[in-house]
Amino acid sequence: MSYTVTLKSSGKKFQIKPSQTILEAATIAGINIPFGCGDGMCGACKGQLLEGDVMLEGYQESALTEEERSDGLILCCKALATDNIIINIRGDEVDEGDEVDRVKVVSVRVETVEKLNQDIIRMILKLQDNEKLKFKAGQYLEFIMDDDSRRAFSLANPPHENLLELHLKLIKDGKFTQFVFEKMQEKSIHRIEIPIGQFCLRESDKPIIFVAGGTGFAPIKSIIEDMIFNKIKRPIFLYRGVNNFEDLYMHDLPFLWKKDIDDFTYIPVSENKSKDNNQLRIGLVHEAILEDFQSLKNTQVYCCGTPGLVKTSFEAFIKKGLPEDEFFADGFPFVTQKNN
Ligand code: FES
Repeated sequence: MSYTVTLKSSGKKFQIKPSQTILEAATIAGINIPFGCGDGMCGACKGQLLEGDVMLEGYQESALTEEERSDGLILCCKALATDNIIINIRGDEVDEGDEVDRVKVVSVRVETVEKLNQDIIRMILKLQDNEKLKFKAGQYLEFIMDDDSRRAFSLANPPHENLLELHLKLIKDGKFTQFVFEKMQEKSIHRIEIPIGQFCLRESDKPIIFVAGGTGFAPIKSIIEDMIFNKIKRPIFLYRGVNNFEDLYMHDLPFLWKKDIDDFTYIPVSENKSKDNNQLRIGLVHEAILEDFQSLKNTQVYCCGTPGLVKTSFEAFIKKGLPEDEFFADGFPFVTQKNN
């Protein structure tokens, strides 16, 4: 059994199973719905229910107040359809056009595996069977593992390159880490599903603040390199948040970008002091932004990292004047948990 979700402004429709959230079903259908934490904490996926009914639970009051709920607002990351529904979501008027392929399963070969620091590896994949692929900078893919479970990773390269670059964080004794070391050797072949997600650059002249926590740097790298390739000239502030200086992989790359982007500022922020780099800013990355900007009213923010980082940033930046619809985010747990 499934229901139909209709997006009011664009008229786009997709099917939803009773066990799926609106966000999950839209993602599988290749339809972009803005979201942040993916877990009912930030409110970034808010939409208006116009017709039909949903079941909505397991979210925080700060993400959706009782008043908003009674006004018909819902959280797409938590709402399960119990009927055919019509909703309004922000950004629905943005037509993604035909620039992106629909989500599909393809084979890839591991070309290279390279260690970038103590626990991050960079993997380069190539499509097999002369397969061609159109994706948008900032989207992600899912590995389909031997037991059919999945792991999601953001694409770190711009779409014009004929390869797929991933940044993988290895976790000691983790299932996927074992899979990487045992199965993902160079030249091995795997199945992936691609392209997924809506963490993409939106048209505007406003300065951009990128907030990258850990390997949240990957989709932001893809977007910035795509902007350079397409000669998109907007002021960019790149804030990277890490626990320690040693976690700043590819730390030299943003300094190279400065040559290609007229107005580019790179601010790495470490939670802990380092004996190897006493120049580094110490603290929390979102707090550094709050300190540096008197108001965020005329900016766009793109944030990728843990749900905690997304939630905290969203709440703090809205208070600092950022319009809600100028915050775009990719929360790790949504992409890593939804199929595991
Ligand atoms: S509340 Fe839905 S994405 Fe954060």
